[in-house]
Amino acid sequence: MSKFIIDGGRKLTGELTIHGAKNSVLPILAATLLIDHSTIHNCPSLTDVDASFNILTNLGCQVVREGNSVTVQTQGMNGCTIPEHLMREMRSSIVFLGAVVARCGKAVISMPGGCELGPRPIDLHLSSLEKLGVTIKEDHGYLNCTVEDKLRGATISLPFPSVGATENIMLAACTAEGETIIHNPAREPEIVDLANFLQRAGARIHIGENGTIYIQGVKKLYPTEHTVIPDRIAAATYLCCTAITGGEVLLKNVMPQHLTAVFPVLEEAGCRLRCAGGTIHLEGPQRPRPLRMVRTMPYPGFPTDAQSPMMALSCIASGTSVLVENIFENRYKHAYELTRMGARIHLEGRVAVVEGVPKLHGARVVCTDLRGGAALCCAALAAEGQSEVTKINHIERGYQDFDKNLRSLGAIIKKVSE
Ligand code: EPZ
Repeated sequence: MSKFIIDGGRKLTGELTIHGAKNSVLPILAATLLIDHSTIHNCPSLTDVDASFNILTNLGCQVVREGNSVTVQTQGMNGCTIPEHLMREMRSSIVFLGAVVARCGKAVISMPGGCELGPRPIDLHLSSLEKLGVTIKEDHGYLNCTVEDKLRGATISLPFPSVGATENIMLAACTAEGETIIHNPAREPEIVDLANFLQRAGARIHIGENGTIYIQGVKKLYPTEHTVIPDRIAAATYLCCTAITGGEVLLKNVMPQHLTAVFPVLEEAGCRLRCAGGTIHLEGPQRPRPLRMVRTMPYPGFPTDAQSPMMALSCIASGTSVLVENIFENRYKHAYELTRMGARIHLEGRVAVVEGVPKLHGARVVCTDLRGGAALCCAALAAEGQSEVTKINHIERGYQDFDKNLRSLGAIIKKVSE
């Protein structure tokens, strides 16, 4: 296990290139199971991506990484079982279910289990796949999935626009017989990126004006290449890290249109933003202003994954901020760690009230989850004195070269073994 040692108080300034999106490449790696041969470019180096490689190789596929490009060959696929240790390695491995069932006509996967954000139910995934013709039996923590005859298209209305459930339906429906319509699907950019990858491979997918997804099943998908979109949450995180230090940063290889809900909040905090093509320039304020009300919502609303870094920024605001976490039921664990640094945060169910303080002080804090861990580092960058951020394996799930990137902007941060 490793930890970060951070000496706070330095303004971050400089330029940073943003890596490929974790939440795009993970479902796309699952989708490679539908194709004999795929090459994915701009694939970030993350432990969640490594966990996906392990699942693919465990199924008999060949995965070869060359720099930021990964080639997946699936002709040697010789299994349809994803064992518990691999399912537990990464919460979102449930997204492999739709692809394995579509490829093999059956799947045996361990229940994914909960995670730091609370129980992560998969009822929408399972009920949707059953509508497509999958029979699912639970047995001692494993899901035994079979398809009697073949997967058949269906009309599915999601009661909640679940990202993972939308992805599982897309992966199972691409080669099903007939049309699948998904009403109230997730509309995140990562869903569009997955659709683009599948369309390049020959899938017939159309996303309507109102977001409804129409899929006409095809017999086969064909070898293809794809470049993953930039990681909008990593971009939002580095913007918060710069803003909290009153610094200035130019982010490159970003898609500003994916951050339209984040920009107004950063501007409310007193940041000055300029976007041009694939770049975002931010100038942070001397001291952040308070955030009247930040509500996390499904895309295109404010992203839940940016809630914790934004909370960190609000900890030193010149007033009281209010955040409401509407997506996950337990996504404030980082707040307790922030209070160890002198933050004043009051939690009431989904509502967090943050009374800004002039300064945070360094402390030894523990990462509780991926984005919460990044938020602790964000706060430590502005804190007076030294902080120790432990259990940074959480951070390495979703941020490539996190400490190296922050150092390149002038932060005093080093990674040491615990
Ligand atoms: C994806 O998770 C992302 N992960 C999450 O990012 C992100 O926070 C989330 O979407 C929301 O945007 C990946 O893409 C790998 P959901 P997912 O299904 O698919 C409930 C990060 O930090 N729900 O949209 O799991 C669920 O409990 C991660 O990068 C059900 O009730 O999100 C949650 O409250 C964290 N039943 C809400 O819906 C289901 O069957 C949102 O879940 C599925 C979900």
